Amino acid sequence: MAQLWGGRFTKETDKLVYNFNASISFDQKFCRQDIEGSMAHVKMLAKQGILTEEEKEQILSGLEGILKDVEAGTLAITDEYEDIHSFVEANLIDRIGEAGKKLHTGRSRNDQVALDMKLYTRYEVQEIDHLLKELLEVLLKIMEENLDTYMPGFTHLQKAQPITLAHHMGAYFEMFKRDRQRLEDIYKRMNYCPLGSGALAGTTYPLDRDYTAQLLAFEAPTLNSMDSVADRDYLIELLSAMSTIMMHLSRFCEEIIIWNSNEYRFVEIDDAYSTGSSIMPQKKNPDIAELIRGKTGRVYGALVSLLTTMKGIPLAYNKDMQEDKELTFDAIDTVKGCIALFTGMIKTIKFHRDIMQNSAMKGFTNATDAADYLVNHGVPFRDAHGIIGKLVLYCIEKDKAIDELTLDELKAVSPVFEQDIYKAISLETCVNKRTTIGAPGPDAMKEVIRIQRAYLSAEKPLQ
Ligand code: ARG
Repeated sequence: MAQLWGGRFTKETDKLVYNFNASISFDQKFCRQDIEGSMAHVKMLAKQGILTEEEKEQILSGLEGILKDVEAGTLAITDEYEDIHSFVEANLIDRIGEAGKKLHTGRSRNDQVALDMKLYTRYEVQEIDHLLKELLEVLLKIMEENLDTYMPGFTHLQKAQPITLAHHMGAYFEMFKRDRQRLEDIYKRMNYCPLGSGALAGTTYPLDRDYTAQLLAFEAPTLNSMDSVADRDYLIELLSAMSTIMMHLSRFCEEIIIWNSNEYRFVEIDDAYSTGSSIMPQKKNPDIAELIRGKTGRVYGALVSLLTTMKGIPLAYNKDMQEDKELTFDAIDTVKGCIALFTGMIKTIKFHRDIMQNSAMKGFTNATDAADYLVNHGVPFRDAHGIIGKLVLYCIEKDKAIDELTLDELKAVSPVFEQDIYKAISLETCVNKRTTIGAPGPDAMKEVIRIQRAYLSAEKPLQ
């Protein structure tokens, strides 16, 4: 058991207590960030004359060596250390001796862990953002290729009005675009450096916190040392943003599962993204979409868990906060995996355009447009609604679509109908006439695609 403390203790820690308290099994995930933070701290201590240049050089090369060996797999991180901070410091002292004992001057594990976690999540926010961008590229391509792929739009999972596949994909484009904007906001708000806050009340050393903040590419140092070690808002915001990403992915997956069902057959998931059954040879299951939908619960769970952990903690640092790590790491890994898998699945999916179009034709999705036709010929809308309602009832009896009726049949319900009704309620007309921005008409969609394309190409990465 290697610990950074023990002077004031007369007994060894109970083994169970040690294990319960230790965080090395999971905080080793930010070994790199811990070392980068220590390097910045040491450079600052030397600049301020708190360490000599020689001590600084010794510590820096010791730390570099540890990181190199850990990443090469020649130095194992074992559970004989309480946490990653103890592991690095103990190894440093083993390697360089006395100078290593000065690393922790003017620092506490409280500001150290706050820094490590921020550095780790700040990087991961960028990774998630890249993955979302790749997904948006795929969606935009599908939009560009499907401006006239007609399909039913649904409300209450009942066919409502005709739309296009481009329009449907465009809805998800907007969702994931907002998700990226949320990440950008979080990034900006979290990008302040807690290092130098000490345990809770700063230190008596003349630290230069602006310098460490700058070395670690933060906007500036944080402004209250108590808040710096006790703040986990940025993790809660990130978990919330990740929960929203999962909610969007889950809704999309639900639609893919429905569309891929034997009854719908709007799409076919590629063999590479489907799985079989051990007993039913005919099965090709959408397991990936189901798993993404299922994993949403884990990420929501992490958000609620951390909110609950934080709600009763007095200032400043308390050990409860160690609980932030496993769940945040798990949520990040889950979200990254799900976005990458989803992108692969949607990129390779086959759209059955004919089936989609046929479905739009068969479900009275042009009933509103038929009512509008009557309105355009002087019938008040409420009456037109009633007439088309009757017409739909007649069609259901005859098992026909509105545009499959003869003009005589139409006229029997309303004499206002003329030959031009057929063109007025064709799928093409129904969609083409919806020309306001945001609607599925091809001109409106082309304008949206232009805007989204410019958004994707203009953007610079988060920083
Ligand atoms: N493992 C701890 C955590 O994750 C590091 C900070 C420990 N600080 C302390 N005062 N015990 O929160």
